[in-house]
Amino acid sequence: MFSKNIYISRRRTLMEKMSATAPEGQRGIAVFIGNAEAPAQYRDNCYKYRQDSTWLYYFGIDQPLYAAVLDFDEGRETIYADDFEIGDIIWMGPQPSVQSVAESVGVAESAPYGALNAVIAKAIASGRKVHYIRPSRYYNKIKLAELTDRKPCEVDDNFSETLTRAIISMRLVKEQCEIEQIDDACALGFEMHTTGRRGIVPGIVEQEIVGRMEGVTMSKGWGPSFPTILTQHGETLHNHTHDKIIEPGKLMVIDAGAENNMHYASDFTRTYPTSGKFTRKQREIYQIVCDCNNLAFELTRPGITYREVHLRTVRLMLEELRALDIVRGNIDNMVEAGIAGLFMPHGLGHNMGLDVHDMEDLNENLVGYDDDQTRSTQLGLGSLRMARRLVPGNVVTDEPGIYFIPALIDQWKAEKTDHGFVNYDRLESYRDFGGIRLEDDVLVTEDGARRTGPARLPITPDEVEAAMEEDRK
Ligand code: GLY
Repeated sequence: MFSKNIYISRRRTLMEKMSATAPEGQRGIAVFIGNAEAPAQYRDNCYKYRQDSTWLYYFGIDQPLYAAVLDFDEGRETIYADDFEIGDIIWMGPQPSVQSVAESVGVAESAPYGALNAVIAKAIASGRKVHYIRPSRYYNKIKLAELTDRKPCEVDDNFSETLTRAIISMRLVKEQCEIEQIDDACALGFEMHTTGRRGIVPGIVEQEIVGRMEGVTMSKGWGPSFPTILTQHGETLHNHTHDKIIEPGKLMVIDAGAENNMHYASDFTRTYPTSGKFTRKQREIYQIVCDCNNLAFELTRPGITYREVHLRTVRLMLEELRALDIVRGNIDNMVEAGIAGLFMPHGLGHNMGLDVHDMEDLNENLVGYDDDQTRSTQLGLGSLRMARRLVPGNVVTDEPGIYFIPALIDQWKAEKTDHGFVNYDRLESYRDFGGIRLEDDVLVTEDGARRTGPARLPITPDEVEAAMEEDRK
């Protein structure tokens, strides 16, 4: 946990923001539901516990079955949870009281978990607004349904946009203590990826490498920040099967991150030649993606929108693909027509913090788009999760990629989606190429940006080959 002053200060800021949205007496209350345990099979055999990130941000308590109410009219804060009984203590050992836990994060009042129902019922009965954020877990959705007298399927649509916007405005701009945690998670991610790269030896099963990488994160942190992607079929963007034997001559995409013990994330992607050396054809495409990654980083600074960074990055991608005669024609027109989506059907990046895709559970568009921005429907640009005008303290991923997806190529060709810009004769020779993605994590600073973590993973083709040669000595 951070020091309790951090949580006190965050809740005070949230109270101030919410107070500014309505006159006193009409501001209402917010209910925050921390996560419960999620059984994997029977009740006591649960998935590894992970607390809700917004809960962690404002309350820090990393324990299941906590809830809280902030009263924006009266300025009161109350935590709801049950004290452990002897039956729990036999299995879990001595536990602190709920009151002492609440005080450790600067909340003066606590009450049993079950008292929450009456508090919310009373607020509703007296016509007060009950704010809540969109829940990411089913338990929380059911609990909110019970508390607010709705069907579970009605909970999402009735989230409080006012509260959500206030929370997003705070979590989007990382505090110094959070930046330190992200740097720490990136250091662990660096070690995880280095272990992964060293494991690439033809003949072994991919799963072995995944196990070693995730072991690194669990030995020093909470674990992986999302299910590891490690595949010789990088053209499948999120390939979670790891059952293939490593073959020479392939490209291996490793997209993986670590979550540290404070639950901050890292998220890196590198693509390696399984033989240790790129073929000429692999190197040409790899260099384009590397150039795009570097350009995106150079453009990232306060004042520019990440949408603009995305568009200028895919413009470079198209220019370099044109130099290889894979596309033909005017670059402006290609960008406008969304031709880059055939090669990069995802956005340049997303926010990162307590969640690897920070806050996307709350509402992707509210998180990633300014009020004057509209999300595109084009393939690729439409998947851009972070489009906002950047400000210091934003942490984003920079993850361009080029993928040759046979089914997508066939569809575009059949439906003439490319408006004549694609040279399918040339593209045919890339059908079994696979995919390449290169991802760094980037902090927007006062005058530009810096990559988070203590060091950048090898990224140029020469650096990658040299690192792999060293690994194999
Ligand atoms: N790195 C995984 C993702 O961004 O979805």
